[in-house]
Amino acid sequence: MEEMLWVEGGRPLTGEVTLPAAKNSVLPLLAAALLCGGPVTLRGVPRLADVEQSILLLRALGCAVHWPGRDLVVQPPSARPDGTLPEGPVRAMRSSVFYLAPVLHAAGRVSMPMPGGCDLGPRPIDIHLDGLVRMGATVCWQQNSLCLASPPAGLRGADITLRLPSVGATETLLMAAVKAHGATVLRGAACEPEIVDLARFLQACGARITGAGSPVVWVQGVPQLSGADHAPIPDRIVAATAAAAVAGAGGQLLLRGCEEDQLGPVAQVLRNAGCEVASGPDGLTVARGGPLRGVGRVYTGGYPAFATDAAPVVAAGLLTAGGASAFEDTIFENRFSCAEGFAAMGAKVQRRGRALEILGPAQLHGAQVAAPDLRGGAALAVAALAAQGQSRVAGLGHIRRGYEDIAALFCALGAKAGYCQPGG
Ligand code: UD1
Repeated sequence: MEEMLWVEGGRPLTGEVTLPAAKNSVLPLLAAALLCGGPVTLRGVPRLADVEQSILLLRALGCAVHWPGRDLVVQPPSARPDGTLPEGPVRAMRSSVFYLAPVLHAAGRVSMPMPGGCDLGPRPIDIHLDGLVRMGATVCWQQNSLCLASPPAGLRGADITLRLPSVGATETLLMAAVKAHGATVLRGAACEPEIVDLARFLQACGARITGAGSPVVWVQGVPQLSGADHAPIPDRIVAATAAAAVAGAGGQLLLRGCEEDQLGPVAQVLRNAGCEVASGPDGLTVARGGPLRGVGRVYTGGYPAFATDAAPVVAAGLLTAGGASAFEDTIFENRFSCAEGFAAMGAKVQRRGRALEILGPAQLHGAQVAAPDLRGGAALAVAALAAQGQSRVAGLGHIRRGYEDIAALFCALGAKAGYCQPGG
């Protein structure tokens, strides 16, 4: 039986958090390691379920992977891989899509089922595939497997306009372009910091990229890439989660070494709710002494707008606020499946279309709830910190995809939280 998270809520939090490397950087970086002719070291990698699944994929492709402490080392395969990806890890996470381009370069072909991941509504991969086709790949379906092949001479550069600024597709096409023949232009690219991080890593390996982090990215393909030693950027969604926890429960948090940029619009929303967010010599402090107030309507969007992944956790921190708040997700249809768990804790919430509407004030109480997905699960845990009494959150497997040890994160802030067996 899968463990559950328990949280004894209703007490203010005080403490500090040092952010781990960002999951959304580490996962594409691990796939990109397959493009490299030498060893790749990634520093400070958290032990996330999705990282474990990525390692299974890399090993299946012939890479040697060592992860003795926090630093993860990937050695390139000694022989040309076969290009067929194992079903288990592919279906366990959306990020298996990142292997399309690197495996095409390494094996000339790739075969895999549709990637899995959080159920946030339809998550097609047409933008990834259309871009790869523009670079010369052929795509077909065979017995529920997606099969791609590169032309005999390899992928070639192309001028590609993305239908919408997909983060994953921008990363896929960047990885395809760095070793393609000739030049590639990506127009309408996503601008997330994790894309800039991937580009910096690839540049350290010898790739020629300009414009990453802007909507137009230019790449001049090179025949070979070396390995590199890279420290991925800190996890801004973990930062938002810890900040939201303090907003909900009250108290004070130091995000050590963090700058306000990393919270982005989350900082302003928390200020509007009555929190103090201030930069200091040691990092960013987030504090809440007085009552919370509603923040009106917040729209998520691509960077630098309010991150969709931060919406459920920040909403969780504001469930007790007096007045109205609403979070409308413009990226995913089904972002707020956590609403049911919020309601079970006494929150006055309603889902309307893609939005979660909150009408406070509300008194939260402990409840037994189930994580519907990764960020929705973290959001229930954040809500539990603000609720009187004990809560239990089932579906810990979702949360462990993006938080190494969420109970330890909360305990570092003085919370009472841990893991238990169901019924224990
Ligand atoms: C990445 C993040 C995820 C975050 C999301 C949006 C990683 C590992 N995951 O996911 O945490 O929530 O960005 O910031 O970095 N779409 C298509 N066709 C495609 C690709 C995407 O229609 O080929 C749509 C999606 O269904 C979604 C929207 O575009 O509605 C944005 O998705 P995308 O930016 O691709 O998200 P991911 O890369 O999957």
